[in-house]
Amino acid sequence: MVDLKETNIEDLENFDWVAYFEYNNAHLLKLDYTKHDELTEEDIKCITPSIRAFQIGEGSEGKNLKRRVKKYVEKTKDYPYEKAMDWFVIEENRHSQTLKKYMEIYDIQPLENIWIDKVFRVLRKLMGLECEVIVLVTAEMIALSYYTALSNATNSTLLKTICKQMLQDELKHVVFQSYTLHKISRKRNKILNTIVRAIRKGIMRITLQVVWIKYKKLFIKGGYSKNQFKADSISYLNQSIQIEKSGKLL
Ligand SMILES: [Fe+2]
Ligand SMILES: [Fe+2]
Repeated sequence: MVDLKETNIEDLENFDWVAYFEYNNAHLLKLDYTKHDELTEEDIKCITPSIRAFQIGEGSEGKNLKRRVKKYVEKTKDYPYEKAMDWFVIEENRHSQTLKKYMEIYDIQPLENIWIDKVFRVLRKLMGLECEVIVLVTAEMIALSYYTALSNATNSTLLKTICKQMLQDELKHVVFQSYTLHKISRKRNKILNTIVRAIRKGIMRITLQVVWIKYKKLFIKGGYSKNQFKADSISYLNQSIQIEKSGKLL
């Protein structure tokens, strides 16, 4: 299990996310796509369903998200947040492109759409920015376990490097989005905040069940039991809620 504290952010309130994203994108891990024989037939079979699903899930134009961010920034005057969110969308699209390129090596066809992604997109559109961020950060916490499992599931050096980059990026994303939730909730009614946290727990429980049922073969090959996957996901959620409550990485 990775730890949000690995992001080493001491002062979340004054953390310059735009500078971080700029630096990160100028210092990406080198990926060598010329190796074509790292995966066995069995490996390909094992990773195909989940990697196709995550490839499509990572990619999004973020039009709806950007519209909501704009509205939020107009209200709060939190201008750097808009730029940071643009970077966030760029990184997610890079993730999608990276997976696509890797899939091409082994002729794994990308999906046009997938029902769970559609459900996520509909959910995100239902309410405001907060709802959208809650759904996003849930998917990212699941991704922390997924890329750990994917990294362990095969002997492909390239895939391990891809997963390492993903994990580095997603850890920061989880902290970034959890802090967004802190900014939204900090001056709000305590009862409402408690209800939102309970909803977040519900969404996480449902998501992890569905993901386990669909992709357990990959998770098991990557060293996870269902209990471990569940425990890690809940632990990430508790850390995220901690940031939302306190504005700090404790
Ligand atoms: Fe991502
Ligand atoms: Fe992400």
